[in-house]
Amino acid sequence: MTHVMNTYARLPVAFERGEGSWLWDANGKRYLDAMAGVAVCGLGHGHPRYVAALREQVGKLVHTSNLYQITLQEKLADRLAAISGMDNVFFCNSGCEANEAAIKLARLYGHKKNVEAPAIVVLEKAFHGRTIATLSATGSRKVQAGFEPLLAGFVRVPFDDLEARRIAAWWRYWWSSCRARAASMSAMTTISAACARSAMRTGGCSCSMRCKAAWGAPEDGSRSSTPA
Ligand SMILES: Cc1ncc(COP(=O)(O)O)c(C=O)c1O
Repeated sequence: MTHVMNTYARLPVAFERGEGSWLWDANGKRYLDAMAGVAVCGLGHGHPRYVAALREQVGKLVHTSNLYQITLQEKLADRLAAISGMDNVFFCNSGCEANEAAIKLARLYGHKKNVEAPAIVVLEKAFHGRTIATLSATGSRKVQAGFEPLLAGFVRVPFDDLEARRIAAWWRYWWSSCRARAASMSAMTTISAACARSAMRTGGCSCSMRCKAAWGAPEDGSRSSTPA
């Protein structure tokens, strides 16, 4: 009997110690750690330099919050930026927090591009985490069940189908920008895949559906184009 909340089904094994990529359970049985904490313990277990650095830091200071400057964090960000060629580093505590940040950044980018309701293309069967936003993005009813209402703003496409991905991105872009322009056009509720394909090819709608007006040329007269 445990008081740990039952969020995951756990295998009946507990590990006592580790060394490099090996783990030992309480009976001394050795296991190859191919999971590495679901890929977050890439440094392995118990490396002497890693252990010494942790011991030293814990002896000096554990946490001061992000209200103050954190010299070592800045040093690490500089190293990561230099290695990756990126500009900034966002430090967080979990995979779903990283994905939440990615969702927020994608939405910010959409709003900066004047997209009224930016949507994010996600894959069927993908797993993105268990917070409300990331489970909404996750392509598994099992993970979502019982937590409705989910967060809107995700368009799901099949894995390994680049065309579907391109159509979804293009479709959402036009849907939100046209909706903003044509608020009075109540007829535009759905746009068919055939219409999306045809519009992508021609830059405007040529089918006879009611969404026709939405695919027409933008009011400023510029030709439509696929968003990057
Ligand atoms: C692909 C993927 N994304 C996101 C997550 C969520 O990470 P966390 O459990 O650290 O929030 C996981 C966790 O297993 C994952 O495998």
